[in-house]
Amino acid sequence: MSSNVTFKTSDEIEKMRVAGRLASEVLDFITPHVQPGITTDQLDRLCHDYMVEVQHTIPAPLNYAPKGHRPYPRSICTSVNHQVCHGIPGERILKNGDIVNLDITVIKDGFHGDTSRMFCVGETSRQANRLCELTHEALWHGIRIVAPGRHLGDIGHAIQRFAENAGYSVVREFCGHGIGRAFHEDPQVLHYGRRGSGMELKPGMTFTIEPMINAGKKDIRQLGDGWTIVTADHSLSAQWEHTVLVTENGYEVLTLSAGSPPIPNAG
Ligand code: MF3
Ligand code: CO
Ligand code: CO
Repeated sequence: MSSNVTFKTSDEIEKMRVAGRLASEVLDFITPHVQPGITTDQLDRLCHDYMVEVQHTIPAPLNYAPKGHRPYPRSICTSVNHQVCHGIPGERILKNGDIVNLDITVIKDGFHGDTSRMFCVGETSRQANRLCELTHEALWHGIRIVAPGRHLGDIGHAIQRFAENAGYSVVREFCGHGIGRAFHEDPQVLHYGRRGSGMELKPGMTFTIEPMINAGKKDIRQLGDGWTIVTADHSLSAQWEHTVLVTENGYEVLTLSAGSPPIPNAG
């Protein structure tokens, strides 16, 4: 079995910190614009211009074309309501009560930072709010596991147990990923699994954790645009993402910034 995990040097870690903070700052910048009446294309354009003109970062999604995919046509992903991930910005107008995930990946000085948050558009239902908050908590349950000697399966187990105890389901087909000079590197970071399974974590590894949690069943479908993923039962779906570093004694979250939402309480 081959794996191409890269271990970052202290110089590379410093660059990952910069890229991670910048990705999070794009979300800080766009937050006041996520209001009823705006289109997802307008959000894409605002983020694109901020990245390119203000930050001097490269929007990694634009023209990204992994094997088996047509080039991604926008600079961010906007996944609304029952869209799970990889929603393509377009003419859709956000309306009161929608929930939307904005997923930002920037490249700065050759390194990637990847992070996403959920946004509530206007007044949202209690069920929608709860799904968004609980998915944020699920992400942090996974993050808090990260330390040398832990296994990838410990992360997936923690997320799955928390989400399923709340009555939700975990999407299986998409996972977190190693990240660095490449957008998607080894290892795959599953959001479900068994304790003690999978690769052992070691200092210098950088990867994302990005659970997709559905209010209904776990099954998904891909739309005809070749990218957008939706829940098969059209139930609401939420996702949050951070890029993390394995340190000598635990973890460092690389995608935090002044506008990051409060970290959920442990427990
Ligand atoms: N940012 C996504 C992730 O978290 C990947 C998006 S790929 C794209 O891995 F091409 F759709 F942008
Ligand atoms: Co990612
Ligand atoms: Co992402």
